[in-house]
Amino acid sequence: HQKYRPFPAIQIENRQWPDNTITKAPQWCSVDLRDGNQALIDPMTVEQKKRLFSLLVELGFKEIEVGFPAASQPDFDFVRALIDNNMIPDDVTVQVLTQAREHLIDRTIEALQGVKKAIVHVYNSTSTVQREQVFCMSREEIVGIAISGVKMIKERVAQHPDTQWRLEYSPESFTGTELDFAVEICDAVVAEWQATPENKVILNLPATVEMSTPNVFADQIEWFCRNIAKRDSVEISLHTHNDRGCAVAAAELGVLAGADRVEGTLMGNGERTGNMDIITMAMNLYSQGVNPELNLADAQKIVDVVEYCTNIPVNPRHPYIGELVYTAFSGSHQDAIKKCLSRYQEGQAWDVAYLPIDPRDLGRSYEAVIRINSQSGKGGVAYILESEYGLKLPRWLQIEFAGKVQKHTEQEARELKQTEIRELFDQHYLNS
Ligand code: KIV
Ligand code: ZN
Repeated sequence: HQKYRPFPAIQIENRQWPDNTITKAPQWCSVDLRDGNQALIDPMTVEQKKRLFSLLVELGFKEIEVGFPAASQPDFDFVRALIDNNMIPDDVTVQVLTQAREHLIDRTIEALQGVKKAIVHVYNSTSTVQREQVFCMSREEIVGIAISGVKMIKERVAQHPDTQWRLEYSPESFTGTELDFAVEICDAVVAEWQATPENKVILNLPATVEMSTPNVFADQIEWFCRNIAKRDSVEISLHTHNDRGCAVAAAELGVLAGADRVEGTLMGNGERTGNMDIITMAMNLYSQGVNPELNLADAQKIVDVVEYCTNIPVNPRHPYIGELVYTAFSGSHQDAIKKCLSRYQEGQAWDVAYLPIDPRDLGRSYEAVIRINSQSGKGGVAYILESEYGLKLPRWLQIEFAGKVQKHTEQEARELKQTEIRELFDQHYLNS
């Protein structure tokens, strides 16, 4: 990952800036098969879920939330299929969601019979609006729900000592919860579970609805980390949604503010505007020299599997992975890219204008980088003739021919294929 550099630090007066950057990937947890699935028009079939689960394992996820088995029979059947068909590698922990209700907890534990490692993820709503307007309950009553859920889970898992169990607790709508209350309820959960540094509880702090700017979310996380009683016995997890379009930024600032773990989905599928996009955050780390601990070298495969499983097309401008992100139409961009790429090919480090990432790192190729339409200039046209056809044009001819290409693309009002550029060149200079 040394191909890319951290953001360059500068000294301003007595300060080094920036004074804080992410230097290590968080623990990732994919919630594609739960939050992602519950937001689909047509929830995934068992076949689609198996395909997506296999992809997540191939990409290197070690924690995967696989469903809400007590809430739906297909989720229950899928969890059983994973366990019964031995599909869960030894180093992967599956996570399942449940509410803190006895019959749901019993069914959840039943779904997990025989699994080697599992995280039981229990949640209840804690925000002011949910307490006052939905549940009409006091703070004490809301704490009571969480504690009775944890107690029941503790009793049930004790009966299955062959499984390595962990507990995750989410105060749902954390971002709408008074911070002192969020800490109070989480402290109570940690105490009930008797968490230790060797047996940490995962405290997952969801921006169930993204309500603020990312810096405000990060302040909430920082305050929580400072005030939770047993910081050494908990793993702080983030679960951001994208209502204001800043889920990745919120997760990044949340990690800088002290969180250890991030839940999200591939390309951000999930409720409403989606969950935070793990691909984007992982590639943001990678592009600044930090190992993302995920293998994202085959972007097209990720796109194909996600599209097959969700039936939602990936935006061609999706950061890093979209079909158009390594494509430059504008002439000045093409010219700059061409110059930098030839320096890189001569052995210089990756430092290419307009291309923060080498497309090959994601299995993309240079061919798609330079494309020609009416916005293109001489640089792009010359690059195609030279790289594809070995024709090195003198500068005057680059300028002259680019003018002819531009006229042609304006008449046609469309992009030209590489073969059409060659034909046009032959027509003007070789066949006449
Ligand atoms: O967004 C959310 O709050 C959730 C919880 C169940 C963690 O998905
Ligand atoms: Zn969610």
